[in-house]
Amino acid sequence: MLETKDLTIRFGGHVAVNAVSCAFAPGTLTAIVGPNGAGKTTYFNLISGQLRSSSGSVLLDGRDLSGLGVSARTHAGLGRAFQLTNLFPNLTVLENVRLAVQATRAGAHRHGLNLWSIWSDHKALTQRAHELLEGVSMAGKQEMLVASLPHGDQRKLEVALLMALEPKVFMFDEPTAGMSADEAPVILDLIRKLKADPRKTILLVEHKMDVVRELADRIIVLHNGALVADGEPAQVIASPVVQEAYLGVNPQDALAQEVAPTQPGLPPQGGRRKAP
Ligand SMILES: Nc1ncnc2c1ncn2[C@@H]1O[C@H](COP(=O)(O)OP(=O)(O)OP(=O)(O)O)[C@@H](O)[C@H]1O
Ligand SMILES: [Mg+2]
Repeated sequence: MLETKDLTIRFGGHVAVNAVSCAFAPGTLTAIVGPNGAGKTTYFNLISGQLRSSSGSVLLDGRDLSGLGVSARTHAGLGRAFQLTNLFPNLTVLENVRLAVQATRAGAHRHGLNLWSIWSDHKALTQRAHELLEGVSMAGKQEMLVASLPHGDQRKLEVALLMALEPKVFMFDEPTAGMSADEAPVILDLIRKLKADPRKTILLVEHKMDVVRELADRIIVLHNGALVADGEPAQVIASPVVQEAYLGVNPQDALAQEVAPTQPGLPPQGGRRKAP
C-alpha cells in the first residue's frame, strides 16, 4: 500500500501540493485529474523522490520513504517513467533496455567471474529486454540508437524501461501524450494488462477522460495543489466539488475541454496556462 500523508511542497510562496493525504491499494488503478498547474506532476515527483517535500510523508507498505532519494525509492518499489535524459542516447534501444533489466536484477545474479554464467545471464537479459520491447511494439526498432528515435517511440521506450524495473507502484504521467493514434493503444493495452495483476498499484495522470473512464477504479482530483475529490469515477465526475474545480461549468463539458488540446503541445483551451 502506497500512502501520502499531508504531503506538501512550497515553491517560494506558492503551495504546489497542499497537504495531500491519500492511500493507494495494490490491484487498483487511480486516475489523477485536475486542470493544468493543479500539482499532478509535482505530486508524482514528491512520491518518486525527484522533489523533496516541505512537509508530510510518503509511505510504502508502512515504511517511511520520505528521507530517501530517487534510486532508493525505485529500489523500494516505486516506479516512475524514466526521463530519456537518464538514458544512453548513443546506445541502441535494446542495449538501454538490457541495462535497465540488468540494474533491476543486480544482486540476484552474482556468480563471480564464471564465464558460463556471465554468458547465460547475458542471454537471459537480452531475451527479457526483447520481450519488453515486443510489449511496446518496438521489437523492430531494437537496433536503432535512442538518439534517433521519433518522439512517440521515445515515449514507448520510457514505458518499456518502467516495465523493466518491475515496480510495485507504477506512475504514468500522461503516458500517451505526443503519441500517434496507432501508438497510444499499445500503451493503453499494456496498462490494461498491468491492471489485471492484483499486486500492482497504478497511478495514472491522464487528461483524456475516455481513457480515465475505461481504466480507472477511482478518480482523485487535484486543484490548486489540494485534493478536492476522491471516489468512484462516475461519482467524482458528477460531484459538485468537481464542478467547482472546473470553474462552475458542467463537469463533463469542462473535463472534455480540459482534456482536449486543440493542437499538440498547446495547453487545452480554457485550462490555466502553464508557467513558462
Ligand atoms: N520546480 C518548480 N519550481 C517552481 N514552481 C514549480 C516547479 N514545479 C512545478 N511548479 C509549479 O507548481 C504548480 C503545479 O505544477 P504541475 O506541473 O505539478 O501541474 P500539473 O497538474 O502537472 O499540470 P499539467 O496538467 O499542465 O501537466 C504550477 O503552478 C507550477 O508552475
Ligand atoms: Mg503535469
